[in-house]
Amino acid sequence: MAKIILTGDRPTGRLHLGHYVGSLKRRVELQNSGEYDKIFIMIADAQALTDNAEHPEKVRQNIMEVALDYLSVGLDPAKSNLFIQSMIPQLTELTFYYANLVTVSRLQRNPTVKSEIQMRGFNASIPVGFFTYPISQAADITAFNATTVPVGEDQAPMLEQCREIVHKFNTTYGEVLTMPDILLPDNEACMRLPGTDGKAKMSKSLGNCIYLSDSEEDVRKKVMSMFTDPDHLKVSDPGKLEGNTVFTYLDACCLDEYFAEYLPEYANLDELKAHYQRGGLGDVKVKKFLNKVMNEHLAPIRERRHYWESRLSDVRDILQTGTETAERTAAETLNNVRNAMKINYFTDPDWLKEAEEKYR
Ligand code: TRP
Repeated sequence: MAKIILTGDRPTGRLHLGHYVGSLKRRVELQNSGEYDKIFIMIADAQALTDNAEHPEKVRQNIMEVALDYLSVGLDPAKSNLFIQSMIPQLTELTFYYANLVTVSRLQRNPTVKSEIQMRGFNASIPVGFFTYPISQAADITAFNATTVPVGEDQAPMLEQCREIVHKFNTTYGEVLTMPDILLPDNEACMRLPGTDGKAKMSKSLGNCIYLSDSEEDVRKKVMSMFTDPDHLKVSDPGKLEGNTVFTYLDACCLDEYFAEYLPEYANLDELKAHYQRGGLGDVKVKKFLNKVMNEHLAPIRERRHYWESRLSDVRDILQTGTETAERTAAETLNNVRNAMKINYFTDPDWLKEAEEKYR
């Protein structure tokens, strides 16, 4: 069976380091592994509209930002098909049919929906579209016959719900849809990178993000003012690693080779951690090192971003071509779905025959 990847992001802002270590970096590795027959990367603008209906302009602008972020991390349009969700009407149609296979109570139990509703204070005023976005996400995944969905762990309930829909569809109408598997990040620290302030998650509204498009100077300032161990007051004090954001970022981004280059008195991160815990290692020194590590990752990204920023019409063409390819695939799946559900009246001669038999 072909190995096919589908994943994507909502275009509600520029992408940040949390997106990078949590999924973009992995996507590029998967892309370059040569192990996948097809890779679809979707800018989920229709999903972004489910809770931004009053601000379509925000979604509209950020499509280009996200496309630039994709290209700048090294997603290669020759290998990965980049496309825009709302330009594929087949996804909406699949969503409509799948909606009949899902109950309201099942959606209410979806932990991601539940916590997003609480976080955004939606309560009784949840838009129906927002409430049902797990169904639309199942359409995204199945339309491309995805076998593999690389996402952060926050998306696990979505995958679970998608798999239920696939199972229900296939047992009701026949084996048509491909059962997808989730692919989680393999590094614990990458699972959910905290914000620079130590809060659980990088989030635009909290102002605690390091963006892929930040300048070198912006990143330096953000790193130097990062949250560490609040009880580590003097250099000689023993320091804590748990909840220490600087070390979490190092866990996510640091390679041994960076020590040889920037901090040769330590062989690896374990030695640095041990010294910090013992006492005698100051935060500023660790932060300066982290800044170098950040720059190792971000400098090439920044450079590629500048390249594409001066070629926006090429970016547009990449998205358009990718969207056309994606639509052809989604149209095939929709066709199979309609045939399986037997809602194919004009292309299936049996439909007329059945009626004629009845009136013979
Ligand atoms: N929900 C994802 C996010 O918020 C975006 C997304 C939409 C997605 N459809 C998808 C991810 C399908 C994986 C597969 O980031």
